[in-house]
Amino acid sequence: MHHWSLSTQSRFLNHGSYGARLRHTVACQQRHAAEIEADPMRMLTDQLEAKLDAARCGIAQRLGADPEGLVFCENASTAIESVLRSLPLGCGDRVVCLGHVYNAVRQALKRRCQETGAVAVEVPVSLPFDPMKLEQAVMAEVQAGASLCILDAITSGSALRMPWTSLAAQIKACGVPVLVDGAHVPGQDPLALRELEYDWFAGNLHKWGGAPLGAAILAAAPDRRDDTFALLTSHHWEEGMTRSFHWTGTRDWSPWLTAPEAWDHLEDFSGGWDALREYQRQGSQAVDEALTMAFGTQSMTPEAARTAMCSVPLPACLQSIDCETLERVLEQRFGLRVPVHALSNCTMVRVSVHLHTDIEDIIALGEAILACAQEQG
Ligand SMILES: Cc1ncc(COP(=O)(O)O)c(C=O)c1O
Repeated sequence: MHHWSLSTQSRFLNHGSYGARLRHTVACQQRHAAEIEADPMRMLTDQLEAKLDAARCGIAQRLGADPEGLVFCENASTAIESVLRSLPLGCGDRVVCLGHVYNAVRQALKRRCQETGAVAVEVPVSLPFDPMKLEQAVMAEVQAGASLCILDAITSGSALRMPWTSLAAQIKACGVPVLVDGAHVPGQDPLALRELEYDWFAGNLHKWGGAPLGAAILAAAPDRRDDTFALLTSHHWEEGMTRSFHWTGTRDWSPWLTAPEAWDHLEDFSGGWDALREYQRQGSQAVDEALTMAFGTQSMTPEAARTAMCSVPLPACLQSIDCETLERVLEQRFGLRVPVHALSNCTMVRVSVHLHTDIEDIIALGEAILACAQEQG
């Protein structure tokens, strides 16, 4: 635990929301920030562009992406909204997304639809999750006509890996552009972005890639790069994707400069990505089995959809509880930080598994939820 910046007091089971950083990575970011502070003109005016290019190429290489089509963003939300605002949507255009779409993405899409007259169509995700059924339902909506399809690669609340690579290829074959919300993918899944089919792929580095807060990427397919614009207009907005995204006014660039080193710190610390991913997969499965048995519920996650996070249906008598209320009780009475979501008529708790996750905290979570269930009657 002392390798992580997390407080030893925290009972933190929510790596999925903001990630957590190794101390080594925080020190590295502080070094970059101190260099900027020591000589802002030299670092920002003279050297920043070359340093950012090196960091961008470093991350592209680690994600198997073409560096010419990959830019840093502050977070997945910014990356996704940049795409939504770059695409010329019009009255009656249909934008297809999943029923478990991240709520802030749902709101960004809603706002864009209100501005343009486009219509958002959510494809329901039924639980327990059936990837084949979802593929068929998405393709039926796409074939009914769509101007864009937004696919979550790993859903937020339900923590399910979607069959996004095969879906994206099928959707593109229908001539419909695909925006992949891969917020949870970098670090969690092996990636060779260059070999996959999509128009845009947005991913966070600060969740599972070990990077400081404020580090994310947007990758665009070659035929999308000239018409994908940053949310903010800058000196460079007409000078290509990489320049326009990397300078959107003065900001703190240290998270982006740190990202490749942060990636390597986590890789070294965990004994390699394969070992870390296998640890997370097995841990997530064990949490699912133990908590569903304790709660008397059924897993909603088939093997193919398993991720480093596991969302477990709550006991029957807690199914109608308000999610925020339960989160607050778990925090205030038991000190446990864990998100609760209600999706597809199922209220679930999401546990993230990482090297800093303490098994005692998972046992305590099970006991705390059973205590709440007993009180609820
Ligand atoms: C699926 C998904 N998309 C997008 C986001 C937004 O990420 P950020 O807050 O870093 O912009 C999240 C955050 O948890 C997410 O889970």
